[in-house]
Amino acid sequence: MVRLLSFTAGCLVLLHALVAGSPLHTELPRYFQANPLTRRNLMVNTVENELGPHLSKGSLIFGSSNAAYANLTSYWITYIQPDFEVIVEVAAESDISKVVRYCSDNSIDFLVRNRGHGITSSLNSFKGLQISMDKLQGLQIDAASQTVLLQGGVYAGPVIADLWDNGWVTSTGAAYCVGLVGLSLGGGHGRLEGLHGLVADGIVHFNLVLANGNEIGVNATSNADLFWALKGAGHNFGVVTSYRAKIYPKSTQTWHYHSYVWTGDKLEAVFEALNDLHTKDNGTTPVLMSFETGIIAIDLSISDTEPVLSWSFAYNGPAADAEALLEPFNAIGAASENVQDVPYPDIALLQGTGEQNGTCSDGPYIHSTDLLIKYNVTAQRQLYNQFVQKITQYPDLKFSARYAHEGYSNKAVQAIPSDSTAYPHRESNIIVYFLAAAAPGSSDQAPAKTWAQEARALWIGNDKPQTYVNYASGNSYESLQSVYGYEPWRLNRLRGLKAKYDPHNRFRYYEPIISN
Ligand SMILES: Cc1cc2nc3c(=O)[nH]c(=O)nc-3n(C[C@H](O)[C@H](O)[C@H](O)COP(=O)(O)OP(=O)(O)OC[C@H]3O[C@@H](n4cnc5c(N)ncnc54)[C@H](O)[C@@H]3O)c2cc1C
Ligand SMILES: *[C@@H]1O[C@H](CO)[C@@H](O)[C@H](O)[C@H]1NC(C)=O
Ligand SMILES: *[C@@H]1O[C@H](CO)[C@@H](O)[C@H](O)[C@H]1NC(C)=O
Ligand SMILES: *[C@@H]1O[C@H](CO)[C@@H](O)[C@H](O)[C@H]1NC(C)=O
Ligand SMILES: *[C@@H]1O[C@H](CO)[C@@H](O)[C@H](O)[C@H]1NC(C)=O
Ligand SMILES: *[C@@H]1O[C@H](CO)[C@@H](O)[C@H](O)[C@H]1NC(C)=O
Repeated sequence: MVRLLSFTAGCLVLLHALVAGSPLHTELPRYFQANPLTRRNLMVNTVENELGPHLSKGSLIFGSSNAAYANLTSYWITYIQPDFEVIVEVAAESDISKVVRYCSDNSIDFLVRNRGHGITSSLNSFKGLQISMDKLQGLQIDAASQTVLLQGGVYAGPVIADLWDNGWVTSTGAAYCVGLVGLSLGGGHGRLEGLHGLVADGIVHFNLVLANGNEIGVNATSNADLFWALKGAGHNFGVVTSYRAKIYPKSTQTWHYHSYVWTGDKLEAVFEALNDLHTKDNGTTPVLMSFETGIIAIDLSISDTEPVLSWSFAYNGPAADAEALLEPFNAIGAASENVQDVPYPDIALLQGTGEQNGTCSDGPYIHSTDLLIKYNVTAQRQLYNQFVQKITQYPDLKFSARYAHEGYSNKAVQAIPSDSTAYPHRESNIIVYFLAAAAPGSSDQAPAKTWAQEARALWIGNDKPQTYVNYASGNSYESLQSVYGYEPWRLNRLRGLKAKYDPHNRFRYYEPIISN
């Protein structure tokens, strides 16, 4: 597979010089104050003095002078730079309500950062206090109820490995570096969704801290309206301190992996075969054909003017069953192929989504995205031709530009009624996106942005744009409806729930339903 170039995290946000501010509390008790005070400059020392004593042992409060600051403020895309003046790294779930209440009482804006793979530019409007989830890595299997309790800071890699060692699997994203909560709150696509639905669909209970600091349980019988909202629009409503999700006994010892590199002349054959694959089982994907993913990009070992199609397939079962389904792809004629059978935890490394893979650690600057039900093969050819033309015109972009495609098995996702969760895109299990590295200020940035928008327009064609909230770029051309659903009742319901659970709109930095 062609790999993403590596980029070093460049300019990190530095704290502004600390100027002496007014004291946080006046003599008046808080309940006599019409409005809590607003601070202009948040000071580490003040937060340490006032909040520190109330937090559990092992919690840390620090600013930019701390060695840990750089790692806890870097994002996958370097231009995502929320302005973190103070970081509070909590050591226990119970700390979170104290931090949130302290922030709300003092009009301090706060934002959770977990694994830093948030990619929407809406994060850049943030200035204030970070709640770091880094220390909340707890995992507790309950075999009797076939569930696992996961703390708010976990990410896929260790969770998959731990469960597998104990004979279980659970739904996660396909990339092992990504935080599980952030991903679930937006739905969550991964290799088990053909069998078990979205990652959010497997969650039976959330422990949540609301904007006022209250700790509540959210499930099908307790705050059920919020349970609906957390599964697709969850970033807008609270801090998840932990959640309980279904686990399933492992059903196979090995997964089958098959990768192909095809030259551009095979494009029609490939996309027609992909469309067939995703409808082969009475209109849905064979459930065990879990995940196919591919990029169209330059591979210098083949050509420096014509991109190739590099694809891989992950099958949740034996090689012979997988190869029967892959026969149409085998018949196309690849420039190179690779086949392996590995335990489930290792499938990500092969598909380039393991923790050690470059794709997981650093991203490029420019992206655009859409969701599809099936490929329009004519449009795919136009996209290919566009690629050839753009890199002729802007040769520097040839090293980083790519069209990426993710096709998930869709049966269980579509079996769940669309109105039962806030996730609005159940019909569209193909995610496409454009990526290119073009640093701010470089002469390639404007062309890369134009290309991103033009590629998106070709994918959308005559359809309505569909934006997966977890892949949204935050550009103004992505409408709120394209993210949260076109049916008017969806945004109405979400706005009603905002008024009820977050009336002061504290959670407004990640694809906000209500921006201000
Ligand atoms: C390389 C890469 C691979 C990806 N792979 C997949 C994939 O396979 N499947 C998929 O569905 N998506 C995938 N995504 C998208 C991913 O779901 C989102 O980027 C997700 O928000 C990342 O979560 P994070 O914790 O890593 O990032 P962060 O930036 O730390 O978190 C993103 C946002 O989530 C919210 N959040 C995080 N933790 C909490 C919490 N405990 N409580 C409340 N809110 C919280 C906050 O609003 C935060 O701003 C991928 C993204 C990248 C960059
Ligand atoms: C920052 O992260 C890198 C890579 O994970 C790690 O090697 C390094 O030790 C971290 N630095 C600090 C100060 O935690
Ligand atoms: C639902 O949440 C309530 C409140 O936290 C809790 O008492 C109850 O046990 C939860 N039910 C399930 C099935 O998790
Ligand atoms: C397809 O649907 C028909 C009618 O519902 C059913 O009889 C058949 O078993 C299904 N086939 C598969 C492969 O699920
Ligand atoms: C992912 O990383 C592993 C370990 O470094 C490597 O063997 C593998 O080839 C990488 N996968 C891809 C697709 O680049
Ligand atoms: C497919 O793409 C072509 C070329 O962009 C476009 O003309 C056509 O309308 C599209 N078809 C559908 C069904 O969207």
